[in-house]
Amino acid sequence: MSGRLAGKSALITGAARGIGKAFAQAYVREGARVAIADIDLAATERAAAEIGDRAHAVRLDVTDQGSIDAAVAAVEERAGGIDILINNAALFDLAPIVEINRASYDRLFAVNVAGTLFTLQAVARSMIARGQGGKIVNMASQAGRRGEALVAVYCATKAAVISLTQSAGRDLIKHRINVNAIAPGVVDGEHWDHVDALFAKYESRPLGEKKRLVGEAVPYGRMGTAQDLVGMAIFLASSDADYVVAQTYNVDGGNWMS
Ligand SMILES: NC(=O)c1ccc[n+]([C@@H]2O[C@H](COP(=O)([O-])OP(=O)(O)OC[C@H]3O[C@@H](n4cnc5c(N)ncnc54)[C@H](O)[C@@H]3O)[C@@H](O)[C@H]2O)c1
Repeated sequence: MSGRLAGKSALITGAARGIGKAFAQAYVREGARVAIADIDLAATERAAAEIGDRAHAVRLDVTDQGSIDAAVAAVEERAGGIDILINNAALFDLAPIVEINRASYDRLFAVNVAGTLFTLQAVARSMIARGQGGKIVNMASQAGRRGEALVAVYCATKAAVISLTQSAGRDLIKHRINVNAIAPGVVDGEHWDHVDALFAKYESRPLGEKKRLVGEAVPYGRMGTAQDLVGMAIFLASSDADYVVAQTYNVDGGNWMS
């Protein structure tokens, strides 16, 4: 099997749909075997069947340590180890500061921050024990670069992902584990259908208007697609990125510069 990820074993969280699923398809095209790990098992199995026999479904709830450990063990057993992790699972919510509730705050931090850290930790332990290094890619967001009215909690979780990427990147590179992140801008898909509906509620807009406005505001001239992110996800998982450590790359059509 040829390809930039030939022979590699990847675990992608939240890969039953959206960006994670597109990454799984791309990684398989590049020669990897991919564990599609998601809390939604039925959708995960459908995605794996669609992608083909080098993809397999793993049920994973990143808020549950037992589930993380079981998923990592299952992938180790099936593939002999994990070369690549993409920490992609995340939740979104929206509310003005005076309406944020603790349940939403706790849920977003549990999935987006603790889920990212403890999945990264479990996979890093596995990679260290195997002694072959690895690549870890965290999904941040332009939301982590700057706070936004109505988006306080999600923005804070993604700022935390950028910070964790820096700390983990600097700590784990001695084991030849590269930790980096991708910060997308606005990417069309089911996630943004949900975001658009929340903005419609809080900003009294017709459905679809927020999507149109954010798309028009991108210097490139439109919202992103999952495919727009695939090149960066392959690069960061490949040996071309061996000397890239603790970075967060904006892939957002020009929205943010840092
Ligand atoms: N879509 C965008 O505009 C955008 C922009 C910036 C960053 N991102 C980030 O990119 C990543 C993927 O976004 P997307 O648009 O594909 O999102 P999505 O909502 O379409 O997919 C997220 C997946 O995560 C899964 N998930 C949720 N909770 C989970 C849990 N506890 N354990 C395991 N899986 C769980 C869901 O079932 C879903 O399949 C996320 O980290 C998101 O924050 C997205």
